[in-house]
Amino acid sequence: MVLLVVGATGTLGRQIVRQALDEGYDVKCLVRNFQKASFLREWGAQLVKADLTGPNSLPPCFEDVDAVIDAATSRPAEKEGIYDVDWHGKVALIQAAKDAGVKRFIFFSIYGAGEYPNVPLMEIKSCIEKFLEESGINYTIFRPCGFMQGLIGQYAIPILERQSVWVMGEAGAIAYMNSQDIAKFAVKSLKLPAAENATFPLAGTRAWGAYEIIRLCERLSDQRASVSQMPPALLRAIRKIAAFFQWTWDLADRLAFTEVSASGNVMDAPMDSVYETFGIDQREITTLEDYLQEYFTRILKKLKELDFESGKSAKKKVPF
Ligand SMILES: NC(=O)c1ccc[n+]([C@@H]2O[C@H](COP(=O)([O-])OP(=O)(O)OC[C@H]3O[C@@H](n4cnc5c(N)ncnc54)[C@H](OP(=O)(O)O)[C@@H]3O)[C@@H](O)[C@H]2O)c1
Repeated sequence: MVLLVVGATGTLGRQIVRQALDEGYDVKCLVRNFQKASFLREWGAQLVKADLTGPNSLPPCFEDVDAVIDAATSRPAEKEGIYDVDWHGKVALIQAAKDAGVKRFIFFSIYGAGEYPNVPLMEIKSCIEKFLEESGINYTIFRPCGFMQGLIGQYAIPILERQSVWVMGEAGAIAYMNSQDIAKFAVKSLKLPAAENATFPLAGTRAWGAYEIIRLCERLSDQRASVSQMPPALLRAIRKIAAFFQWTWDLADRLAFTEVSASGNVMDAPMDSVYETFGIDQREITTLEDYLQEYFTRILKKLKELDFESGKSAKKKVPF
């Protein structure tokens, strides 16, 4: 089976490529930049050049393709925003897949997307879900609550670097999942009849609030965090100012997304039936304690090697 992975250089996409190759799939990666994606070629994947914002570049990527896993999303601070990539780009991608007679299209939405019509990325994800369902293509939709990988930049590195950790508004608890586990569900779904034309939530073993994560990082790193709280009203005011200027529209849309977690709503979902459908044991799923423990053990060892604790290099940045 030939699999096309879109967003293959991303946090989730690269895990999907790795696991699909390990499972024996022929993997093609739709990428914008061959140099940046060269590691995927070294792993054994084939690279095809295209851009979601260039609809004409998409159809040639589908030659011989049986299934698509789309793990792309717009990058912050790029000229093309979420409307160009996550809406127009995805519509063009699904149409190209349909024209090519692709047998399965796997899409990553976000848990609870339909409940936030005023948050542009959530609204777009919800609309693409509907567009895909009505496209006539055999689909699978996953709705992750959040990726553990994002917590490194948000909490772990600021704590190690003795920078402020920002907590937005009420900071509702989120059931984060390791992107390696998410990739496992995606790759398994390719051969699973029960995953055809079906939608699944993806929630980690439990939901974690911001302060719980900070306490966990403090314990694992043996350091105190300096926490700054952004009140919801201030967040909304910044969003309104950003929405006033065209060149900061994308920033305004992203700040709107921050309000989802700042609203205090819990992002968690029952997973028992999902584990059963996929034949995955919950004990195989990474817990946040294990994920962060592994990270801090690795990074503190590396910092020790760099003579971090001698104080000589106290001002050095964390190496990764
Ligand atoms: N991160 C989370 O917590 C989370 C939570 C729920 C759902 N999701 C969803 O899960 C999926 C994967 O997220 P992620 O965090 O792994 O994303 P990511 O790390 O930000 O990667 C984004 C990927 O999309 C590609 N891309 C961006 N613009 C493109 C364009 N114009 N044409 C072609 N490719 C383009 C990027 O390629 P380049 O390397 O060339 O930039 C990169 O491979 C997304 O659909 C996201 O919405 C994520």
